[in-house]
Amino acid sequence: MRNEPRAFMLEGPDYVPSVYDHHLTRRLSAMAGQYADQAAYEQMLAGEDVTLYEVYELQRPQVAGELLHGISIVHPGKVGDEFFMTKGHFHTVLETGEIYTCLKGRGAMVMETPEGDWAVEELYPGRVLYVLPRWAHRSVNTGHEEDLVTFFVYPGNAGHDYGTIETQGFRKLVVERQEQMQIIDNPRWRERVASTGSA
Ligand code: F6R
Ligand code: ZN
Repeated sequence: MRNEPRAFMLEGPDYVPSVYDHHLTRRLSAMAGQYADQAAYEQMLAGEDVTLYEVYELQRPQVAGELLHGISIVHPGKVGDEFFMTKGHFHTVLETGEIYTCLKGRGAMVMETPEGDWAVEELYPGRVLYVLPRWAHRSVNTGHEEDLVTFFVYPGNAGHDYGTIETQGFRKLVVERQEQMQIIDNPRWRERVASTGSA
């Protein structure tokens, strides 16, 4: 890893950074159990293991003081009536935040705390979102044709906890009904609370 200042270009229409160290591609098969409509998920996967989103990372040491950054591109599409989205995660070091700047497309950031507070913020070009420390986050492309492109920056020591969301889901889902974007309760999240309550 070079230890000297590094600048790069972010330019439309695709906003792939002019330099990057790592390109991650996340496909439908990596999202088992995450979409509410399991039947639609299985049916879609039987057809093609489509790419849901891509991340271009500029690598830096994963230590406090460094800032990790890159581009996230969520492609348009739906599984059933639920929009394509990232896996979503808490940071392993909970007290670390993240800044997202939307460069292209339309979307939403779904967020929640370990205590169950939740928030959904719109994303569109020029909009900058500060994801507070402690808040899990997932980006969702609510558009129909365009990619949702965001530039993200977060502390080098943050780490990623995917397991909590994989098992619990987010409290809210972003779906399209009657041609409108809607934020609905995640039935799977309610079941978890119910089963915990009766245990
Ligand atoms: C890093 C971060 C983003 C996401 C990216 C993909 O902390 O929040 O870079 O990693 O948007 O989403 P995930 O990591 O949830 O698959
Ligand atoms: Zn993050």
